[in-house]
Amino acid sequence: MDLAGRTALVTGASGGIGAELSRRLAEAGAAVAVHHRDSEADALAVAEAVRAAGARALVVQADLGEAAAADALIDRVERELGPVDVLAANAGLGQSARWQDVDAEAFDRMYAVNLRAPFLLARRVLPSMAGRGYGRVLFTSSIAALTGGIVGPHYAATKSALHGLTHHLAARVARDGVTVNAIAPALIAETRMLPGEPAELAERIPVGRLGTPAEVADLALAILRNGYVTSKVIAVDGGLYPV
Ligand SMILES: NC(=O)c1ccc[n+]([C@@H]2O[C@H](COP(=O)([O-])OP(=O)(O)OC[C@H]3O[C@@H](n4cnc5c(N)ncnc54)[C@H](OP(=O)(O)O)[C@@H]3O)[C@@H](O)[C@H]2O)c1
Repeated sequence: MDLAGRTALVTGASGGIGAELSRRLAEAGAAVAVHHRDSEADALAVAEAVRAAGARALVVQADLGEAAAADALIDRVERELGPVDVLAANAGLGQSARWQDVDAEAFDRMYAVNLRAPFLLARRVLPSMAGRGYGRVLFTSSIAALTGGIVGPHYAATKSALHGLTHHLAARVARDGVTVNAIAPALIAETRMLPGEPAELAERIPVGRLGTPAEVADLALAILRNGYVTSKVIAVDGGLYPV
């Protein structure tokens, strides 16, 4: 299943995993909408890399904590790059907090960015994907969804909820050439989201090191290329969770 000529939207493309995923999609021949919230300079650098790979790039800004942002983001991408064939709903909040310190506001903010926004983005692009008989939706979950993790209860809960979303949506569009999956990384280097000191965190991983954005992107590309993998949550975790 070729990604050449497809249009992809990568949210959180200014971050470590999204940047690498954007570059890899461009190398595969997809036009890429490079989304960011605050890190514009990083997004511009990723867009340059996309163009250097010979693909079209569009830099798009949105705070996905805002309920209206998903629709506005898709409107802009459709207007400037065309219908979205590949949605990598990857942006996420990962503020560490003890469960005792997570109040309603912190919980709601995490829920809005990590769960509601991926749903609203998917809800918006799936009808068009199904109508065109091709589509790929990939959520970035976390191994914390399966283990509970070390970031916080709100983080683990929103990531687990992405799995239910994956299974529900996947079943409804499976006959339309559209796959819906999630990847669940463990601790990944070269990101801003590491909840601690890298060497200490690496001790928790059976393979003895952090993962890399390239290893996450490798798995993502394999899933995005495959029309027979759907409704799956696939971990890339150095052996942390034994399934
Ligand atoms: N790093 C890890 O160890 C790890 C492990 C498991 C899962 N993950 C997941 O991987 C995904 C990518 O994160 P990363 O590891 O690449 O971390 P990162 O480098 O911190 O990137 C996070 C990205 O999310 C964006 N973002 C944060 N809040 C946002 C909001 N309110 N609206 C829109 N965008 C927002 C950031 O945009 P700006 O910087 O432009 O504001 C940035 O592009 C996340 O969903 C994360 O939960 C990461």
